[in-house]
Amino acid sequence: MYKFSHIPVDTPKIKTKNRTIKTKIPSPETVSILEDCMTYEPASMNDQLPVAWDKAYDFNVYDKSGNKWIDFTSSIFVTNVGHSNKDVQKAILKTCKKQLLNSYYYPTKERNKLSKLIIQNSPKNLDKVLFLSTGSESVEAAIKMSLLYTGRKKILSFDQGFHGKTMGSSMACGKGNDWVPVKSFVKHLPFPNEWGIKSSPENFFKQSVKNLKPNEYAAFIIEPYQGWSASFLPTEYAQKLESWCKSNGILLIVDEIQSGFGRTGKFFAFEHFKISPDIITCAKGISSSLPLSCVISKSSIVDTSSSFNSTHGSNPAAVAASTASINYLIKNKLVEQSKNKGDLMLKFLKEWQKEQPHLIKRISCRGLLASVFINSPDGNDSDFVDDNGNHRCNEEIKAAAKETHLHSSMLYYVKVSNFGRLYNPYSQLTPPREYVHAKEKLIKETFVFKTTNRIVFSLYLDYLKTKKQNLLLQAEREML
Ligand SMILES: Cc1ncc(COP(=O)(O)O)c(C=O)c1O
Repeated sequence: MYKFSHIPVDTPKIKTKNRTIKTKIPSPETVSILEDCMTYEPASMNDQLPVAWDKAYDFNVYDKSGNKWIDFTSSIFVTNVGHSNKDVQKAILKTCKKQLLNSYYYPTKERNKLSKLIIQNSPKNLDKVLFLSTGSESVEAAIKMSLLYTGRKKILSFDQGFHGKTMGSSMACGKGNDWVPVKSFVKHLPFPNEWGIKSSPENFFKQSVKNLKPNEYAAFIIEPYQGWSASFLPTEYAQKLESWCKSNGILLIVDEIQSGFGRTGKFFAFEHFKISPDIITCAKGISSSLPLSCVISKSSIVDTSSSFNSTHGSNPAAVAASTASINYLIKNKLVEQSKNKGDLMLKFLKEWQKEQPHLIKRISCRGLLASVFINSPDGNDSDFVDDNGNHRCNEEIKAAAKETHLHSSMLYYVKVSNFGRLYNPYSQLTPPREYVHAKEKLIKETFVFKTTNRIVFSLYLDYLKTKKQNLLLQAEREML
């Protein structure tokens, strides 16, 4: 596992509208925070950028020394309406002030408001919502509901999918979860990456299910796109899958934990496919802040057991935050903004690809979710996933990319898979919102994305050339 250095280094100072670097990085006064995380928490903390978050507002993150970064991570798809959104803050403070910080799953006005709001914004055939705390927990509950409802014992999912880190949700995940003891419970089908399938999406689907006994399966759990690649299900495939599930009594669970609440330019990403799920799982962007998740489904499915509740599932502050966040999203038309900004981003990415077709292999972009795959300079086009099912990833390049962004005041979620592959999901739903109000400002905002790509790209090339971290051009730094 890669370990970021905690030794402060000199890096060019930056003072622009959205970025400040005024100390060595990491800031010397934050080193003890970073070190304590490593000492007292699991080794996974090593993999974190050495930024000690002190404050985060809208799309900026600050350390306590006054360094300020642009956050393109959205805290891993959580802060869809921006960090510390004023309406969300107000809702949380209100529940604190009136002294209601826990209510188990007893009735509260706060949960009434949110359940109605969620059902109003869900497909018409779904009429009930179960509140929980994490995405993984909502996947567990969705699976349990489907088993209880159908009386069947197995489920289907995709071989490169991700659904969480608890036992059941890990079983539903694709490859790379070899530690999971019970394998037979889930049958993993190949994911129809548009670049990987030789036949039509419908035929590919037919082939995938041809040897299955459908009446063994309670549910098919899908993500609208795969998080690791931003690879969307082809629409024809999704529709075929839906009709096959319906005709075989298999419930369709759509995991919208990452893709929901406007991320892809639709309220829910499955709307792109015009399909109708039986169960939807949500988390992350549901509150843009405090931990909350939910399962949305039908009474007939949700009411199969009286065990669907949890201690913290409808925490009043989290529920109030979620209501404020969803209302803000709707009031400010952030879903439409996500689509419009995404369309512009795609246009620029395509132009960039046209300029340098030998370098950019593939772009996937819907709303503010995108990936860019960079061609291997040696022309080696091996698969993204190796024979053992691991996403091939050179940790050093990945870390170098992350660190360079760190030093240029951008927190960026970057994955570099093996030499020659580079993937960047654009994780911020509300990137420089003020740029969006005027047309010229929109272009500037898109320029931000374009520039960011170039930065990553130049980093990558330099890495190949010199095998060491690239220093960004000062001119590029000034643009943000
Ligand atoms: C598609 C998807 N499902 C499930 C999860 C798990 O959610 P959580 O981390 O809240 O348990 C994630 C988290 O990254 C996700 O992206």
